[in-house]
Amino acid sequence: MDIAQPSNENKKPNYSAAGYVKVLAPGTVANLVCGFDILGMCLNEPNDLMEVKLLKEKKVIIHSADGYPLPSDPAQNTAGAPLIEMINELDSPTGFEVTIHKRIKPGSGIGSSAASAAGAVVAANHLVGNVFSNKDLVRFAMFGEKVASGVKHADNVAPCIFGGITLIRSIHPLDIISIPSPDLFVTIVHPQIEVRTKDARQILRKEVLLKDAIRQWGNIAGLVAAFMQNDLDLIGRSLEDVIIEPVRSILIPGFDEVKMKCKEAGALGGGISGSGPSLFMLSRDEATAKKVQTVMQEIYNQIGLEYHTYVTTINKTGVKIIAE
Ligand code: HSE
Repeated sequence: MDIAQPSNENKKPNYSAAGYVKVLAPGTVANLVCGFDILGMCLNEPNDLMEVKLLKEKKVIIHSADGYPLPSDPAQNTAGAPLIEMINELDSPTGFEVTIHKRIKPGSGIGSSAASAAGAVVAANHLVGNVFSNKDLVRFAMFGEKVASGVKHADNVAPCIFGGITLIRSIHPLDIISIPSPDLFVTIVHPQIEVRTKDARQILRKEVLLKDAIRQWGNIAGLVAAFMQNDLDLIGRSLEDVIIEPVRSILIPGFDEVKMKCKEAGALGGGISGSGPSLFMLSRDEATAKKVQTVMQEIYNQIGLEYHTYVTTINKTGVKIIAE
């Protein structure tokens, strides 16, 4: 069966001799416009850097390396909460000491909390001999998302762990499908305002009109088919959201203009990255992605809002071990 469930028996760790690992935990774009909570894509830039040390006692310690006020209580920390779940499923007293170099700003919409959660569980799994599957790691990492946004969702942590583009068909039970990723370029603009995922979820309507649901289903199915067939025009047509974007876009200055002008500059399409405020656009080549970046820069210069931009590609491997 292709679904991850907690096992009845705890796992026996096979400890790494080094007892230390350093990982790059990538940013992600959740939702991919039409697939609220069910589609996500992993990015090559930006990344958090995380260092994890093995402890031989049941304990999780969290340090923030660069002054970000991250919660130090592990149960309230997006990296700590998943590790508490993991050590409860090991049959020997095990713990982890985590140092987070936060490069993906919290509240950016580029999967900051997911990077911490996914980076922590991939690193920790490496230190116990990879006894857990990737789907187990997503199951643990969702506890970090719950700390961050009040709700478990896997559309950032799954692509962060698996790499590429993932479809989360269901989280109860967890059912994740990797979708082939086209060789597209991604341009991101992060206007320097903070949108908390919790707030961006609270403003959503709880009910959806059937006609909107039908349009959204068409777009989600179209987008998945387009990725599978590498049909770039169909990707562009399917990047439409009639349910979430009309509500959330009002939180993001310049949203309509960015979307319209980036498409005029040749982008296939795009929209809000996760719960925002970052916006992303997909382009078929690097030259177009850079033109799109210039358009974004011009708009935010004119608005007078500080921003960061990235031109990157789809990361097909997810969290990466870079030293041990
Ligand atoms: N699917 C989540 C949301 C992603 O849009 O609220 C948050 O990054």
